[in-house]
Amino acid sequence: MIITPLTVGRIPDLEKLLALGEPYIRLRGSSDYWLYATLFANTCPLAIIDGQVAGSVIAFRSQVDPSQIYLQDVMTHPSHRRQGVTRALVEEVHRQGALWGCRRLFLTSEPDNHAAHSAWLGLGFSNRSGDTSEQGVSVIYDYKGPGKHRAVYERQIGS
Ligand SMILES: CC(C)(COP(=O)(O)OP(=O)(O)OC[C@H]1O[C@@H](n2cnc3c(N)ncnc32)[C@H](O)[C@@H]1OP(=O)(O)O)[C@@H](O)C(=O)NCCC(=O)NCCS
Repeated sequence: MIITPLTVGRIPDLEKLLALGEPYIRLRGSSDYWLYATLFANTCPLAIIDGQVAGSVIAFRSQVDPSQIYLQDVMTHPSHRRQGVTRALVEEVHRQGALWGCRRLFLTSEPDNHAAHSAWLGLGFSNRSGDTSEQGVSVIYDYKGPGKHRAVYERQIGS
């Protein structure tokens, strides 16, 4: 497995991968991926296996609080799950965050995404306590706006 930053040339392959991520990943516009590849590539790594894009993380360092990095989309191809692809990608973002002196990785999941919940806990994230608990997943009401309840996960960098 090779971990490499997103490039403009890889966007069509990335879009093919992310199209498999419904219902938890929604495809964005091509110009959004262009933006990620040109302005945010340091925190948007791809995992390449046998020459194919097998996994990706799209993440951004906050400009409001530069000690934080938000992971927006995380996806592993269905035939490569449970092989450490997300682990390698998250470690790459963590490594970049540590170089910058960042303190925290965080992300949100939909409350019913139990595979993701297990993955975040397995990767050392904690599920922030929230307003309710749904099948063991702590959920914060309206986190992303009215009616957009989310489970929020975070992992410290450098402690
Ligand atoms: C969630 C997802 C990204 C995990 O990717 P992955 O590459 O399979 O994860 P990894 O192999 O790196 O797993 C790392 C650890 O997480 C845990 N884990 C991951 N998937 C798990 C699952 N389905 N059930 C239980 N534990 C799981 C394990 O502890 C695993 O370590 P181990 O295999 O050594 O035990 C993947 O299932 C996926 O792409 N899902 C669809 C898109 C999605 O829901 N993205 C997240 C949106 S927030």
